[in-house]
Amino acid sequence: MTAHLTGRSRIVGVMGDPVAHSLSPVMQNAALQKAAIDAVYVPFHVTAADLEAAIDAIRRLDLVGVNLTIPHKETALAFVDLVEDAAQLGGSINTIVNRNGRLTGYNTDGPGLLRALQQEFGWEAKGQRVLLLGAGGACRAAVVALGRAGADWIGIANRTGERAAQLAAALEPLLPQTTFAPFRLDAGLAQRLPGKVDLLINTTSVGLQQESFDLPVEQTVRPDGAVYDMVYGRQPTELVQMARRLGLQATDGLSMLAAQGELAFRLWFEQAPPAGLMKRMLMKVRSDR
Ligand code: ATR
Repeated sequence: MTAHLTGRSRIVGVMGDPVAHSLSPVMQNAALQKAAIDAVYVPFHVTAADLEAAIDAIRRLDLVGVNLTIPHKETALAFVDLVEDAAQLGGSINTIVNRNGRLTGYNTDGPGLLRALQQEFGWEAKGQRVLLLGAGGACRAAVVALGRAGADWIGIANRTGERAAQLAAALEPLLPQTTFAPFRLDAGLAQRLPGKVDLLINTTSVGLQQESFDLPVEQTVRPDGAVYDMVYGRQPTELVQMARRLGLQATDGLSMLAAQGELAFRLWFEQAPPAGLMKRMLMKVRSDR
Protein backbone atom coordinates (compact mmCIF):
# COMPACT_ATOMS: atom_id res chain seq x y z
CA MET A 1 0.00 0.00 0.00
CA THR A 2 2.75 2.47 0.96
CA ALA A 3 4.25 2.26 -2.50
CA HIS A 4 1.17 4.00 -3.85
CA LEU A 5 1.25 6.96 -1.47
CA THR A 6 2.33 10.39 -2.75
CA GLY A 7 2.61 13.92 -1.40
CA ARG A 8 -0.99 14.44 -2.39
CA SER A 9 -2.38 11.27 -0.80
CA ARG A 10 -5.52 11.75 1.26
CA ILE A 11 -6.48 9.86 4.42
CA VAL A 12 -9.77 8.31 5.40
CA GLY A 13 -10.33 5.75 8.13
CA VAL A 14 -12.38 4.19 10.88
CA MET A 15 -12.50 5.23 14.55
CA GLY A 16 -13.43 2.58 17.09
CA ASP A 17 -12.54 0.89 20.38
CA PRO A 18 -11.69 -1.84 19.65
CA VAL A 19 -10.90 -1.32 16.00
CA ALA A 20 -8.40 -4.06 15.17
CA HIS A 21 -11.19 -6.49 14.19
CA SER A 22 -12.59 -4.09 11.56
CA LEU A 23 -12.84 -5.50 8.04
CA SER A 24 -13.38 -2.03 6.55
CA PRO A 25 -9.69 -1.27 5.82
CA VAL A 26 -9.40 -4.37 3.62
CA MET A 27 -12.45 -3.65 1.50
CA GLN A 28 -12.03 0.13 1.34
CA ASN A 29 -8.35 -0.01 0.37
CA ALA A 30 -9.09 -2.56 -2.33
CA ALA A 31 -11.74 -0.22 -3.73
CA LEU A 32 -9.47 2.85 -3.55
CA GLN A 33 -6.69 1.03 -5.34
CA LYS A 34 -8.96 -0.35 -8.04
CA ALA A 35 -10.53 3.10 -8.57
CA ALA A 36 -7.01 4.62 -8.73
CA ILE A 37 -7.84 7.15 -6.01
CA ASP A 38 -4.77 8.57 -4.26
CA ALA A 39 -5.98 7.86 -0.73
CA VAL A 40 -5.51 5.33 2.05
CA TYR A 41 -8.01 3.97 4.61
CA VAL A 42 -6.57 3.38 8.08
CA PRO A 43 -7.84 2.13 11.46
CA PHE A 44 -7.76 4.67 14.32
CA HIS A 45 -7.97 3.27 17.82
CA VAL A 46 -9.95 6.03 19.58
CA THR A 47 -11.31 5.67 23.11
CA ALA A 48 -14.59 7.27 24.16
CA ALA A 49 -12.67 9.87 26.19
CA ASP A 50 -10.70 10.93 23.10
CA LEU A 51 -13.55 10.95 20.61
CA GLU A 52 -14.20 14.70 20.57
CA ALA A 53 -10.51 15.51 20.04
CA ALA A 54 -10.18 12.79 17.41
CA ILE A 55 -13.14 14.17 15.48
CA ASP A 56 -11.67 17.64 15.67
CA ALA A 57 -8.47 16.17 14.21
CA ILE A 58 -10.44 15.28 11.07
CA ARG A 59 -10.61 19.04 10.43
CA ARG A 60 -7.07 19.83 11.54
CA LEU A 61 -5.45 17.01 9.57
CA ASP A 62 -7.80 17.54 6.62
CA LEU A 63 -8.89 13.91 6.49
CA VAL A 64 -11.47 13.01 3.81
CA GLY A 65 -13.67 11.67 6.60
CA VAL A 66 -14.10 8.58 8.74
CA ASN A 67 -16.33 5.68 9.57
CA LEU A 68 -17.36 5.24 13.18
CA THR A 69 -17.79 1.90 14.89
CA ILE A 70 -18.36 0.61 18.43
CA PRO A 71 -18.81 2.52 20.78
CA HIS A 72 -18.92 5.87 18.96
CA LYS A 73 -21.94 5.80 16.65
CA GLU A 74 -24.27 7.58 19.05
CA THR A 75 -21.90 9.91 20.92
CA ALA A 76 -20.24 11.23 17.74
CA LEU A 77 -23.47 13.00 16.76
CA ALA A 78 -22.68 15.79 19.22
CA PHE A 79 -19.26 16.52 17.70
CA VAL A 80 -20.12 17.14 14.03
CA ASP A 81 -21.46 20.34 12.43
CA LEU A 82 -24.42 18.87 10.57
CA VAL A 83 -26.34 15.60 10.72
CA GLU A 84 -28.27 14.20 7.78
CA ASP A 85 -32.04 13.70 8.39
CA ALA A 86 -32.23 9.91 8.61
CA ALA A 87 -29.17 9.75 10.87
CA GLN A 88 -30.77 12.33 13.15
CA LEU A 89 -33.94 10.21 13.34
CA GLY A 90 -31.90 7.10 14.01
CA GLY A 91 -29.80 8.85 16.65
CA SER A 92 -26.49 7.53 15.31
CA ILE A 93 -23.87 8.15 12.61
CA ASN A 94 -21.39 5.72 11.08
CA THR A 95 -19.82 8.08 8.53
CA ILE A 96 -18.39 11.60 8.71
CA VAL A 97 -17.60 13.62 5.59
CA ASN A 98 -15.22 16.58 5.85
CA ARG A 99 -16.10 19.34 3.40
CA ASN A 100 -13.61 22.19 3.88
CA GLY A 101 -13.51 21.74 7.63
CA ARG A 102 -17.28 21.36 7.98
CA LEU A 103 -18.16 17.88 9.22
CA THR A 104 -21.42 16.19 8.23
CA GLY A 105 -22.62 12.98 9.89
CA TYR A 106 -24.45 10.27 7.94
CA ASN A 107 -25.67 6.79 8.70
CA THR A 108 -25.13 4.36 5.83
CA ASP A 109 -26.07 1.29 7.93
CA GLY A 110 -29.82 1.66 7.35
CA PRO A 111 -29.56 2.41 3.62
CA GLY A 112 -26.89 -0.33 3.40
CA LEU A 113 -29.35 -2.82 4.86
CA LEU A 114 -32.00 -1.85 2.28
CA ARG A 115 -29.46 -2.19 -0.51
CA ALA A 116 -28.33 -5.60 0.75
CA LEU A 117 -31.97 -6.78 0.95
CA GLN A 118 -32.51 -5.59 -2.60
CA GLN A 119 -29.35 -7.24 -3.90
CA GLU A 120 -29.71 -10.53 -2.01
CA PHE A 121 -33.47 -11.10 -2.18
CA GLY A 122 -34.79 -8.51 -4.66
CA TRP A 123 -36.73 -7.29 -1.61
CA GLU A 124 -38.37 -3.83 -1.40
CA ALA A 125 -39.77 -2.48 1.88
CA LYS A 126 -42.90 -0.82 0.54
CA GLY A 127 -46.06 -2.36 2.00
CA GLN A 128 -44.15 -5.14 3.81
CA ARG A 129 -44.40 -6.58 7.32
CA VAL A 130 -41.06 -6.85 9.09
CA LEU A 131 -40.09 -8.27 12.49
CA LEU A 132 -36.79 -7.08 13.99
CA LEU A 133 -35.05 -8.86 16.86
CA GLY A 134 -33.27 -6.39 19.19
CA ALA A 135 -33.77 -2.81 20.26
CA GLY A 136 -30.28 -1.26 20.26
CA GLY A 137 -28.63 1.22 17.91
CA ALA A 138 -28.41 -1.24 15.01
CA CYS A 139 -32.12 -1.94 15.32
CA ARG A 140 -33.00 1.73 15.46
CA ALA A 141 -31.06 2.54 12.26
CA ALA A 142 -32.74 -0.38 10.49
CA VAL A 143 -36.23 0.65 11.63
CA VAL A 144 -35.71 4.22 10.41
CA ALA A 145 -34.59 3.01 6.97
CA LEU A 146 -37.45 0.47 6.68
CA GLY A 147 -40.05 3.00 7.87
CA ARG A 148 -38.84 5.71 5.49
CA ALA A 149 -38.91 3.18 2.64
CA GLY A 150 -42.60 2.52 3.31
CA ALA A 151 -42.77 -0.67 5.41
CA ASP A 152 -46.38 -1.21 6.43
CA TRP A 153 -45.87 -2.94 9.79
CA ILE A 154 -42.76 -3.18 11.97
CA GLY A 155 -42.57 -5.46 14.99
CA ILE A 156 -39.70 -4.93 17.44
CA ALA A 157 -38.98 -7.94 19.66
CA ASN A 158 -36.38 -7.63 22.39
CA ARG A 159 -35.17 -9.78 25.30
CA THR A 160 -35.85 -6.77 27.55
CA GLY A 161 -39.40 -6.02 26.44
CA GLU A 162 -39.34 -2.53 27.92
CA ARG A 163 -36.60 -1.43 25.49
CA ALA A 164 -38.69 -2.62 22.54
CA ALA A 165 -41.67 -0.62 23.85
CA GLN A 166 -39.52 2.49 24.30
CA LEU A 167 -38.04 2.25 20.80
CA ALA A 168 -41.45 1.71 19.18
CA ALA A 169 -42.93 4.64 21.12
CA ALA A 170 -40.03 6.91 20.14
CA LEU A 171 -40.19 6.09 16.41
CA GLU A 172 -43.93 5.71 15.83
CA PRO A 173 -44.65 9.48 15.73
CA LEU A 174 -41.64 10.06 13.44
CA LEU A 175 -42.66 7.40 10.89
CA PRO A 176 -46.43 7.87 10.61
CA GLN A 177 -46.99 5.58 7.59
CA THR A 178 -45.80 2.54 9.57
CA THR A 179 -47.66 0.64 12.31
CA PHE A 180 -45.40 -0.37 15.20
CA ALA A 181 -45.75 -3.27 17.62
CA PRO A 182 -43.31 -4.02 20.47
CA PHE A 183 -42.83 -7.55 21.86
CA ARG A 184 -40.82 -9.42 24.41
CA LEU A 185 -38.50 -11.85 22.63
CA ASP A 186 -39.31 -15.25 24.12
CA ALA A 187 -40.48 -18.72 23.09
CA GLY A 188 -44.13 -17.59 22.90
CA LEU A 189 -43.50 -14.69 20.52
CA ALA A 190 -44.85 -16.40 17.38
CA GLN A 191 -48.25 -16.91 19.05
CA ARG A 192 -48.53 -13.22 19.92
CA LEU A 193 -47.78 -11.95 16.39
CA PRO A 194 -50.77 -10.73 14.38
CA GLY A 195 -49.88 -13.04 11.47
CA LYS A 196 -46.62 -14.12 9.86
CA VAL A 197 -44.13 -11.55 8.56
CA ASP A 198 -42.49 -11.06 5.15
CA LEU A 199 -39.04 -10.51 6.60
CA LEU A 200 -37.31 -11.34 9.89
CA ILE A 201 -34.13 -9.40 10.76
CA ASN A 202 -31.72 -10.16 13.60
CA THR A 203 -30.05 -6.96 14.82
CA THR A 204 -28.69 -8.46 18.07
CA SER A 205 -25.31 -10.06 18.61
CA VAL A 206 -26.92 -13.48 19.10
CA GLY A 207 -25.28 -15.90 16.67
CA LEU A 208 -21.75 -14.53 16.94
CA GLN A 209 -20.83 -17.58 19.07
CA GLN A 210 -23.21 -19.83 17.13
CA GLU A 211 -25.91 -19.35 19.78
CA SER A 212 -29.48 -19.44 18.56
CA PHE A 213 -32.85 -17.95 19.40
CA ASP A 214 -35.67 -19.89 20.96
CA LEU A 215 -37.88 -18.78 18.08
CA PRO A 216 -39.95 -21.03 15.81
CA VAL A 217 -39.05 -19.42 12.48
CA GLU A 218 -41.63 -21.46 10.53
CA GLN A 219 -44.40 -19.97 12.66
CA THR A 220 -42.98 -16.46 12.34
CA VAL A 221 -42.08 -15.96 8.67
CA ARG A 222 -44.33 -16.59 5.64
CA PRO A 223 -43.26 -19.55 3.48
CA ASP A 224 -42.26 -17.12 0.69
CA GLY A 225 -40.55 -14.75 3.17
CA ALA A 226 -36.91 -14.06 4.01
CA VAL A 227 -34.51 -13.88 6.95
CA TYR A 228 -31.65 -11.39 7.24
CA ASP A 229 -29.08 -11.82 10.01
CA MET A 230 -26.84 -8.80 10.65
CA VAL A 231 -24.38 -11.14 12.37
CA TYR A 232 -21.71 -12.73 10.19
CA GLY A 233 -18.89 -15.09 10.83
CA ARG A 234 -16.99 -17.91 9.22
CA GLN A 235 -20.07 -20.15 9.02
CA PRO A 236 -23.66 -19.17 8.28
CA THR A 237 -25.32 -18.41 11.65
CA GLU A 238 -27.76 -20.86 13.27
CA LEU A 239 -30.61 -18.53 12.32
CA VAL A 240 -29.60 -18.47 8.65
CA GLN A 241 -29.14 -22.25 8.59
CA MET A 242 -32.53 -22.82 10.21
CA ALA A 243 -34.24 -20.49 7.74
CA ARG A 244 -32.59 -22.22 4.78
CA ARG A 245 -33.66 -25.62 6.06
CA LEU A 246 -37.23 -24.28 5.95
CA GLY A 247 -36.74 -23.22 2.33
CA LEU A 248 -36.70 -19.49 3.14
CA GLN A 249 -34.32 -17.04 1.51
CA ALA A 250 -31.69 -16.20 4.13
CA THR A 251 -28.34 -14.47 4.34
CA ASP A 252 -25.96 -12.95 6.86
CA GLY A 253 -24.60 -9.47 7.53
CA LEU A 254 -21.62 -9.50 5.17
CA SER A 255 -23.70 -7.98 2.37
CA MET A 256 -24.79 -5.12 4.64
CA LEU A 257 -21.20 -4.48 5.72
CA ALA A 258 -20.18 -4.21 2.06
CA ALA A 259 -23.19 -2.05 1.13
CA GLN A 260 -22.73 0.44 3.97
CA GLY A 261 -19.07 0.72 2.94
CA GLU A 262 -19.99 1.36 -0.69
CA LEU A 263 -22.37 4.13 0.36
CA ALA A 264 -19.70 5.73 2.58
CA PHE A 265 -17.17 5.57 -0.29
CA ARG A 266 -19.65 7.42 -2.51
CA LEU A 267 -20.10 10.11 0.11
CA TRP A 268 -16.36 10.66 0.54
CA PHE A 269 -15.22 10.45 -3.07
CA GLU A 270 -18.40 11.42 -4.96
CA GLN A 271 -18.04 8.43 -7.26
CA ALA A 272 -19.24 4.85 -7.24
CA PRO A 273 -16.79 2.25 -5.90
CA PRO A 274 -15.88 -0.64 -8.22
CA ALA A 275 -19.01 -2.80 -8.43
CA GLY A 276 -19.09 -5.83 -6.15
CA LEU A 277 -15.45 -5.54 -5.09
CA MET A 278 -16.06 -4.84 -1.39
CA LYS A 279 -18.29 -7.90 -1.00
CA ARG A 280 -15.78 -10.09 -2.86
CA MET A 281 -12.96 -8.86 -0.58
CA LEU A 282 -15.04 -9.63 2.52
CA MET A 283 -15.82 -13.12 1.28
CA LYS A 284 -12.14 -13.71 0.60
CA VAL A 285 -11.11 -12.50 4.07
CA ARG A 286 -13.79 -14.72 5.60
CA SER A 287 -12.60 -17.82 3.80
CA ASP A 288 -8.95 -17.08 4.68
CA ARG A 289 -9.67 -16.77 8.41
P1 ATR B 1 -26.26 -2.31 19.07
O1 ATR B 1 -26.06 -0.82 19.14
O2 ATR B 1 -25.21 -3.04 18.30
O3 ATR B 1 -27.63 -2.67 18.59
P2 ATR B 1 -26.83 -2.67 21.91
O4 ATR B 1 -27.45 -1.33 22.04
O5 ATR B 1 -25.87 -3.12 22.98
O6 ATR B 1 -26.02 -2.85 20.55
O7 ATR B 1 -28.01 -3.75 21.77
C1 ATR B 1 -27.76 -5.10 21.75
C2 ATR B 1 -29.06 -5.82 21.46
O8 ATR B 1 -28.82 -7.22 21.46
C3 ATR B 1 -30.13 -5.58 22.50
O9 ATR B 1 -31.37 -5.59 21.87
C4 ATR B 1 -29.96 -6.78 23.42
O10 ATR B 1 -31.10 -7.10 24.18
P3 ATR B 1 -31.35 -6.38 25.63
O11 ATR B 1 -31.87 -5.01 25.32
O12 ATR B 1 -32.35 -7.24 26.29
O13 ATR B 1 -30.02 -6.36 26.33
C5 ATR B 1 -29.67 -7.85 22.42
N1 ATR B 1 -29.00 -9.03 22.97
C6 ATR B 1 -27.72 -9.14 23.35
N2 ATR B 1 -27.46 -10.38 23.80
C7 ATR B 1 -28.64 -11.08 23.74
C8 ATR B 1 -29.04 -12.42 24.04
N3 ATR B 1 -28.17 -13.31 24.54
N4 ATR B 1 -30.34 -12.78 23.80
C9 ATR B 1 -31.21 -11.90 23.29
N5 ATR B 1 -30.90 -10.62 22.96
C10 ATR B 1 -29.63 -10.21 23.18
